[in-house]
Amino acid sequence: MASNSYSKLSLAFFCFSWLFALGMGQPFQAVNLGAWLVAEGWMNPSLFANIPNKDLLDGTQVQLKSPKLNMYLAAENGGGTVLIANRPSASGWETFRLWRINESSFKLRVFNKEFVGLENQGKGSNVVAVSNAADAAEVFQIVRKPDDPNRVRLKASNGLFLQAATASSVTADYGGNSDWGDQNPSVFTMQIVRTLQGEYQVTNGYGPEKAPQIMRNHWSTYITEDDFRFMSENGINAVRIPVGWWIKYDPTPPKPFVGGSLQALDNAFIWAQNHNIKVIVDLHAVPGSQNGNDHSATRDGFQEWGEPNIAETVSVIDFLAQRYADHPSLVAIELMNEPLAPGVTHNTLSKFYQAGYNAVRKYTSTAYVILSNRLGPASNKEFLRLARGLSRVVIDVHYYSLYSSDFEKLNVQQNIDLINNQRASQLQEVTPSNGPLSFVGEWTAEWGVKNAGMGDYQRFAKAQIDIYGKATFGWAYWSYKNVNHHWSLRWMISNNYIKL
Ligand SMILES: *[C@@H]1O[C@H](CO)[C@@H](O)[C@H](O)[C@H]1NC(C)=O
Repeated sequence: MASNSYSKLSLAFFCFSWLFALGMGQPFQAVNLGAWLVAEGWMNPSLFANIPNKDLLDGTQVQLKSPKLNMYLAAENGGGTVLIANRPSASGWETFRLWRINESSFKLRVFNKEFVGLENQGKGSNVVAVSNAADAAEVFQIVRKPDDPNRVRLKASNGLFLQAATASSVTADYGGNSDWGDQNPSVFTMQIVRTLQGEYQVTNGYGPEKAPQIMRNHWSTYITEDDFRFMSENGINAVRIPVGWWIKYDPTPPKPFVGGSLQALDNAFIWAQNHNIKVIVDLHAVPGSQNGNDHSATRDGFQEWGEPNIAETVSVIDFLAQRYADHPSLVAIELMNEPLAPGVTHNTLSKFYQAGYNAVRKYTSTAYVILSNRLGPASNKEFLRLARGLSRVVIDVHYYSLYSSDFEKLNVQQNIDLINNQRASQLQEVTPSNGPLSFVGEWTAEWGVKNAGMGDYQRFAKAQIDIYGKATFGWAYWSYKNVNHHWSLRWMISNNYIKL
């Protein structure tokens, strides 16, 4: 009886919220303001162009080979003990992640997350990877050969160079000849195997003297009111704005982040109101990183967001909700972009989603709360149950026909068929008639087809707009601006690839 009247009540409620929802402009045709308040170098390389030693940013993964031994350096067991130089090939244990101190000094983090340093807190000369703290004994200067920057020597905190005298002995006690020859045991060839270009990299790369000016200039020029005018004239009625957790601490966020992104977000709300556009605030980067990607503002690519970070992350949502709840342009707050399974567990994320939802509801009963599905091995329906118990909730799914070799094999028609069939039915699964709304919060017209013509792109974009138009909350293109033209909705509209 009780559950029956509850379900009637909730049915009435959902009908009511559906009607109300229709009144707010759903389904939205939105665009992401990516690479604006959370930097992404692949979309906007010019922001990174003037960083000194810009190939050695935070999170750069390097492998070091001794030409004398013809062997790679490795953290034995992946970390927790000594370094050795006995590996003929390189993978995880032979890879070191840089933490940049300045343009020439670095910490090196190993597979098991310890930092390379000298034994006995820097008093010994054996090179080990045992410290989780990383202080002065874990700092190395990377000295590059002037005419061959991937030939390096590493100067340790004791002023001496690291050497691989034998395969089982890596020590920081070389004070000999500084030639660059193959026989010098302190010479290594350095291969860069992964780089990151996010907010951490750009701010720490420029450093505390230069970063504030460079970032503020970026924020005030990359997106302006003119862009909102362009959007409203071209059929866009909402923006999804990625922001980072440090925005809560504006104007003095923890280093290396710099203040000023809050002012830019305030401006966006004003411009949105002027041009009749709704705003979705999207917490894109959370403390510790929820996915290890550049756009999570990770320092080194490790995914470390978890239970201990929930309280601080909720406080960021609380801050954003309090600030914008009464703004007429606010339509939704997205609690976390692209958490990655299995590192972010369903259990921990559910706790966070419930607490983040409660934080938003302290200030507004009308703003939507968006829950992002997890990337990786996770069911697309895993948050439907949680969402059904909450009001005005949206499930966000991201659909890219990229990032898997499966897509590269598809021709034009197969790509379009995949949208019309597989994507359509996936979307239907997260669009229950009596549950949360659905949102394709990221998609793009770029794909794996080589040498596609303009007509191919037009058909592919049109197919997606038709299918994603069935999402009950709407969709958002990734992104508004991007040096890679097909990823730029502004470019696609201006060049007649997409018409809304
Ligand atoms: C970089 O940092 C190291 C270690 O703190 C310091 O000794 C060095 O002088 C700094 N170099 C530059 C170029 O600032």
